[in-house]
Amino acid sequence: LTIYRKDYTPPGFWVETVEMGFDLDPEATHVATRMTLKRNPASQNKSLLLYGEALRLVQLRMNGKALTKRAYTLGPGTLEINNPPDHVTLEIETVTHPNLNTSLMGLYVSDGNFFTQCEAEGFRKITYFPDRPDVMAKYKVMLRADKEKYPVLLSNGNLIEEGDLGDGRHYAVWEDPFKKPSYLFALVAGKLVCQEEKYTLHSGREVLLQVWVEEGNLDKTQHAMDSLKRSIRWDEERFGLELDLDRFMIVAVGDFNMGAMENKGLNIFNTKYVLANPRIATDTDYANIESVVGHEYFHNWTGNRVTCRDWFQLSLKEGLTVFRDQEFSADMIGTDSARAVKRIEDVRVLRQAQFPEDAGPMAHPVRPDSYVEINNFYTVTVYEKGAEVVRMYQTLFGRDGFRKGMDLYFQRHDGCAVECDDFRRAMADANGRDLSQFELWYCQSGTPHLKVDTHYDEVAKTYAITLTQSCPATPGQAQKQPYHIPVAVGLLDGSGRDLPLHLGGVEIDGPAPTTMVLELTQQRQSFEFRNVPVHPVPSILRGFSAPVVLEIDYSDAELAFLMAHDSDPFNRWEAGQRLAMRRLLALADAVQKDHALSDSELQETALGKAYHKILSDRMLDPAFCELALTLPSETVVAEQVDVVDPHAIHAVRQFMRRSLAAAMRVEWEVAYQANRTPGSYSPDAAAAGKRALKNLALSYLMELDEPQMHLLAQGQYDQANNMTDRIAALSALVNSSAAGRDEALARFYAEFEQEALVIDKWFALQAMARTTDVAKVRDLMAHTAFTLKNPNRARSLIFSFCNGNPAQFHAVDGSGYEFWADQVIALNAINPQVAARLARSLDRWRKYAPALQEKMQAALKRVAATKSLSKDVLEVVTKSLAN
Ligand code: ARG
Ligand code: ZN
Repeated sequence: LTIYRKDYTPPGFWVETVEMGFDLDPEATHVATRMTLKRNPASQNKSLLLYGEALRLVQLRMNGKALTKRAYTLGPGTLEINNPPDHVTLEIETVTHPNLNTSLMGLYVSDGNFFTQCEAEGFRKITYFPDRPDVMAKYKVMLRADKEKYPVLLSNGNLIEEGDLGDGRHYAVWEDPFKKPSYLFALVAGKLVCQEEKYTLHSGREVLLQVWVEEGNLDKTQHAMDSLKRSIRWDEERFGLELDLDRFMIVAVGDFNMGAMENKGLNIFNTKYVLANPRIATDTDYANIESVVGHEYFHNWTGNRVTCRDWFQLSLKEGLTVFRDQEFSADMIGTDSARAVKRIEDVRVLRQAQFPEDAGPMAHPVRPDSYVEINNFYTVTVYEKGAEVVRMYQTLFGRDGFRKGMDLYFQRHDGCAVECDDFRRAMADANGRDLSQFELWYCQSGTPHLKVDTHYDEVAKTYAITLTQSCPATPGQAQKQPYHIPVAVGLLDGSGRDLPLHLGGVEIDGPAPTTMVLELTQQRQSFEFRNVPVHPVPSILRGFSAPVVLEIDYSDAELAFLMAHDSDPFNRWEAGQRLAMRRLLALADAVQKDHALSDSELQETALGKAYHKILSDRMLDPAFCELALTLPSETVVAEQVDVVDPHAIHAVRQFMRRSLAAAMRVEWEVAYQANRTPGSYSPDAAAAGKRALKNLALSYLMELDEPQMHLLAQGQYDQANNMTDRIAALSALVNSSAAGRDEALARFYAEFEQEALVIDKWFALQAMARTTDVAKVRDLMAHTAFTLKNPNRARSLIFSFCNGNPAQFHAVDGSGYEFWADQVIALNAINPQVAARLARSLDRWRKYAPALQEKMQAALKRVAATKSLSKDVLEVVTKSLAN
């Protein structure tokens, strides 16, 4: 069942050309495929192996002759042709049932239209094929369908012919000029309309850009179109990479397993990452759309032109492309402070989701060594930690050195299916560096810990920083080798200014830098700075220069000092988080020892003062303030303790929010007023930052639960001219005792009933509300607007509750876990991929208090014992239960 990276063998045959004819019918779609193949002399595999799933085989012909049953073997999921000649033309006719396909892999129907999703292994649900990414071929596709029901027929590449077939049917022929792996195949057919624009590339070539949606959504495509144009320009400017097609299409679909898909020339997107206007989309939605549009567009080079040899190399394209979309978003906001805000947000995601994954039973390296179901490895480790690994090359070599590595990578591998090692080699060779030790970032799972010790020699005026690294054991990896870690450091003098750095043994031309990247390669290493006039405060891991846990003993005063002065905004934020975490952990400890929390607890702490300072500083970027004044999430706090008591963590975090609300009431009120954004809505970073701080102020003020504050929220709700302010006010009301809360929820529903993405928000907001318990979620599931079949809807209610409402989900009677098991089992029968994602919600069960552990284990066992469990869910629950 398990597939291993070490077992890779080259394919027995290469495919040269593929011609496909589709007779599209939701009940039964006939697919006729003709492909030419030739033997791969470099392969030991003598037979011709094709993959196929949920297909009815109607016809199979080789080199013009029908194959008898003896000439091939049909196994579960495979079709093997025995003793084929060196040159083969295969003709295959298969039938699929798109309207019964609830897995949303392969060819399926959404709202009456046809869509495909082929990554990773969905093409085999369309036809028998050597469905593996190292087999690349040229495709020509003819689509035939009813003209009235399916007026639009799209596939990859260029439209070369279209016409009428008579009897109400029509056809279109598409040809993709580029060789591609089957996972990049796509087709779309249905009643859709598009916003289109001609766009001139840097080279002067003109291309056609289209964003396709259902008719009622044409007023929500402008932002995606603008984001696409910005992406095209950015890739030309930053990486010299030009769009290689004459036509580039984005299509939005309401039923989609993930965010979006980079099919060559025909990107298919979850509506969530396309549709926006001020009425329905929040600032966060606008930012996410820009970054996902960028991500999929950037895949055209990092993923499509250079693709993966096998699925173990997934991070080759995903880590790199996430890094690229992060840089794109940062460049779009422009200012240094806004770049830092983006960096903080990205690191927050890493800590919230990837660090827990790295510490749990599903931990795997950025380049995994084995899997049961590849769909389970589209993870925050492969994506976000993968992006951090790519970022470290840029930290080591600078932007120019990184660009040289990219150029060499394309020079060597354009048109090829390669490995993570090839990327690392290009970076090493382009920069004349040995990066062999750096491979450990790809092979070892777990989050490294970096311990810092310092020593100031008053007489010699030297300052030594000693770095010690370690990495906890993870499943299958008991011992770890030391990593190659870039550690960006700075030293602050007594007034908070950066000291010029003189590292012992290193000569630098020009003025001494104030930030230096130390390269830690041993388990323990010391770095000595000379000419350090005063005992400095160190600022370590600036910009979060490596994905590690930093262990450093700061006093409260030093943290407050860094929070007030560090020139590195990331570490400024980080100091505040450390200070807050320290308080939260101390309070949680007290609560568990049955100490009552008293309101005076917070007033005079370093944290209270530091928060006060930040909030009163009119010079600070509001977006930064918002991040700095947001306490670490309950999930992030839980990661810091050995035994998680979700109720205690929730209680102390809430207590701290109330205390901070009361202690800074006037300042919050001032911030609320000062950060209003009157006039017409714009999603730009400056305005979004103001709204973020204003709405944070509102949420703190609402903790006071006073009628006056309820009125403030109610007023904001009534007057809002955009979804950001509207939903923030609604959330504040729903989490309060305000009399109008139920009415507000009902009004919101009535107003947005026709907007699926907004109804998702309505469910999510209630799922995460403090008073929403398991019974309430079950009630919401009975609402007419709820369905498990739509992944966005299932995520908005069920995932939001299981992952976003820990205090209620972890109800002591175990009812949350029973609910979870019920939904995993129900989803498993509909959509294994979505079910397996939900299954992950209990994978850290061993970290909880014994009484909860027992109930979680029982729920996991119930799921594991379910009949006809998909590979997807089985892998997750088996690994979760393993010792
Ligand atoms: N390559 C896509 C992206 O990163 C994700 C597609 C994943 N699909 C899947 N079924 N696992 O944008
Ligand atoms: Zn991607």
